[in-house]
Parts: sequence; C-alpha cells; structure tokens
Amino acid sequence: MKTIIEPFRIKVVEPIRMTTRQERDVFLQRAGYNVFLIPAEQVLIDLLTDSGTGAMSSLQWAGMMRGDESYAGASSFYHFESRLRDITGFDHVLPTHQGRASERILFELMGGPGKVVPNNNHFDTTRANCEHSGAEALDLVIREGRDPDSEHPFKGNMDVSELARLFERVGADRIPLVMCTVTNNAGGGQPVSMENLRAIRAVCDRYRTPFFLDACRFAENACFIKRREPEFRNHAVIDIARELFALADGATISAKKDGLVNIGGVLLLRDEQLYWNARNLLILTEGFPTYGGLAGRDLEAMAQGFEEVLHEDYLDYRLASTAYLGRRLVEGGVPIIRPPGGHAIYVVASRFCPHVPPEQFPGQAVVVGLYRHAGIRAVEIGSLMFGGDGRRAEMELVRLAIPRRVYTQSHIDYVVEAILELYELRHTLRGLRIVEAPPQLRHFTARLEEV
Ligand code: F0G
Repeated sequence: MKTIIEPFRIKVVEPIRMTTRQERDVFLQRAGYNVFLIPAEQVLIDLLTDSGTGAMSSLQWAGMMRGDESYAGASSFYHFESRLRDITGFDHVLPTHQGRASERILFELMGGPGKVVPNNNHFDTTRANCEHSGAEALDLVIREGRDPDSEHPFKGNMDVSELARLFERVGADRIPLVMCTVTNNAGGGQPVSMENLRAIRAVCDRYRTPFFLDACRFAENACFIKRREPEFRNHAVIDIARELFALADGATISAKKDGLVNIGGVLLLRDEQLYWNARNLLILTEGFPTYGGLAGRDLEAMAQGFEEVLHEDYLDYRLASTAYLGRRLVEGGVPIIRPPGGHAIYVVASRFCPHVPPEQFPGQAVVVGLYRHAGIRAVEIGSLMFGGDGRRAEMELVRLAIPRRVYTQSHIDYVVEAILELYELRHTLRGLRIVEAPPQLRHFTARLEEV
C-alpha cells in the first residue's frame, strides 16, 4: 500500500481555527511581521518547531495519573530510570527540565576558557552553553552537509579527518569532549551513520577523550541507519539505538523531541565522578536528583514516550510523512534541502524568491507569505536569525518542522498545496526591513515592516 496512514486513532481533538486572509493581514501587522509574536490561536497549522509540540498517547496520559509526586525517591523516577537504562545502557540517568539544562550542567563541568568542543553542528543552545563556559564551539560536519543539493545518505556525518587534525593541531588536553548531534538539526535533521559514529569513537579512543551524543532525535537517526546502512537492514531499531548509545560516554537529550513529551530532558553519564559532580549541580539549580525540575507525572510520560518512539510502525510513518512533504515540494519545483531529514523540511528561500536580497530577509518574506496565504507558521533560519552587526547567514532558509503525531496526512496535503500555490505567486513576495530589534537573539522579538 502506498497511502501513508497514521499508526494511531484519535481520541481527543483540539479545534484549530480557520482565519481569512484579511484577518491574517491584520494579525501580521499587529505582530510586526514576526510570527513569534502571533498568538498560537491565530495559526492554523503550526510548523514553528517539533520541540515540545507533540501529542501524547493514551498510555502516556494514563501514566500522568500514576505520577508519584514524592520529593525524594518517587516510583516514577525509578520507572523512568530503568526505561532509560534499558534503552541507552547508561548507568547514570539524571532528569532535567529540558535539553539545555543538561547542556548547561555538562559544559559547566567540562567546558571552560581555552577549551575547544567539536560537534558535527552545535545546536544554538549547545553552542551558547559551550561558549558561556568560555570554550570554543566548533562545527565539523562533512562538506556534503553544507551543500543543499547533495543526496549523501548521511549528511549529518562529522568530518573525521578534520577531527583528527584538530587533535593534532590544538592537542588533546584542550579538547574536553567530542560531541555529535543525532540527527543533525542544522540542515534539517540529517542523520549520522553508525560507521561515522564508530570512526569518531576511534579518534576519541586514540586521544583518550570522552565522546558525547546530543541525542534529541536518536530514534529518527536509528531508523535512518536501518534504512540506509546495509549492515543494519535486518536489525531492530531499538538494537541500533542501543549500539549508538554504547559508543558514547554520555548524552544530553531534550525529551521534547523523541521523548514524545511536552517538557523534559535527560543527562546520561557513564563516569562515576562526573555523575557525582553533575548530580550536585542538578541539586543546585534543577532539583533533587529523583525529579530534576520536573513533576513525577512528567517522568512517567517520558518513560512511556521513550518506549513508544522506538515502535517501528511509528518511525516508518514519521519518516515517510516528512519525506512525502519533501517529495511533493520537489516535484512542484520548490527548492528544498535534499534529501528530506527526519523532523523538518528546509526551503531554500534565496532560490524561492531570488528577487529579495539577503538584507531584506528572503526567508522571512516566505514565512510571512505562507502565513498570509494559508495560516501556516514556519520559521526563518537565515539572516534575520543569525545576522546583525553586518553579518549574514550562510544560507537563507525556512524550516517547516513537523510536530510528532499532531497533524494528519490531509494537513500535510494542505501544507503542500499552500506552498505550491505560494511558489506560483513568488514574484509577489516582498522583502522586509527591521523597525526595532534587541541587540541579541533579535529574531524572537524584532518588529519588521514590508519594503
Ligand atoms: N539539541 C538539539 C539538537 C535541539 O534541536 C534542541 C532544541 C536542543 C538541543 C535544546 O533542547 O529546547 O529542550 O532545551 N531544539 C528546538 C528546535 C528548540 O526548535 O529545534 P531544549
């Protein structure tokens, strides 16, 4: 059968509101042409992020009722801990309120001035936490990972010879850890191969350096490995996930992605001493180690979410649905980063509307056009997000991130139709200029106007 169906049926529904184009014109004006400032109620289909926006299952909601809210030693913690140990093989499991809290603890312990931390691509918060510690965050993704047209099956891979050269150049004493992000969010959730992870491990072994995963989307990455790496064709995804974690000395996870929850994070460690230190920092700012800034019910929801995300029918549907959106856009001539990643499609805005120069934010022109045309909220990842002080982004992109288990196939068809229509009207898209903006992270709150 070719039709992609959701491997679940719907028990609770949440209405979404249709708006008229005239209404959306007003909403855009009020929001200063910044979709972060549009109330979510005024959005029909929200593709701003796949983080914390997923739908929980009936078993997760049942778990919420079972949540043990004891301050210390809650049964929900032990349930969560044993599930995470089973999937990842790490002895030490610390809950945190979200991914960046795990990152903050890790870099406070391992970062510091003069240090260099390589990654395929640091996600913004990882980079920010690394740099906040005084360390330098370095991106070593392979060349193909920077080329929107390369069909390389593992565009998230790290350039391992670059990594080895880095060790030679700066010395192992300045590299406290090597990180790898699976899947690689920058570039749209491109996977990393097991072969590449093994090669990174080998370099880390040679220089006696710990290897950490940023494993927010580990299940999607494991599923890509099953499909694209012949050695793993007949392996269960859960076994691939276990093997992936077995290569690392630790991991940070935002459970808001493949944990299938709305809030939560994990810090996973093997080293006893590091664990004791991390636990102390956790108590300082997150909470006692058996709740880590979360409610007992959140731990139950995570325990169940981490199990469900490895169901192969779910993962088949998840990757098929994202790939379908990508394929339909490519067939319609829309420029996107290829091949489609796991959680998002990235439209190449500089090719979508080449008449809008980078200083007028072509990505934002597409984002505004898409909201105005169809009520869909996407996000600019280009010079509005990364520019300022005369800087420009490397690429002008628009990310369509797909929340997990939230939208049906017909919602995706609506998104396809809207983007194809907008592509026909692309000559009408207008550039924007900034009216007011804060000095940092300006894309969240800047106000703009159409040129
Ligand atoms: N690492 C990666 C690869 C991420 O994609 C994110 C979040 C984080 C770490 C931080 O996790 O938000 O729980 O603190 N990514 C979201 C996104 C925000 O929209 O891509 P967090």
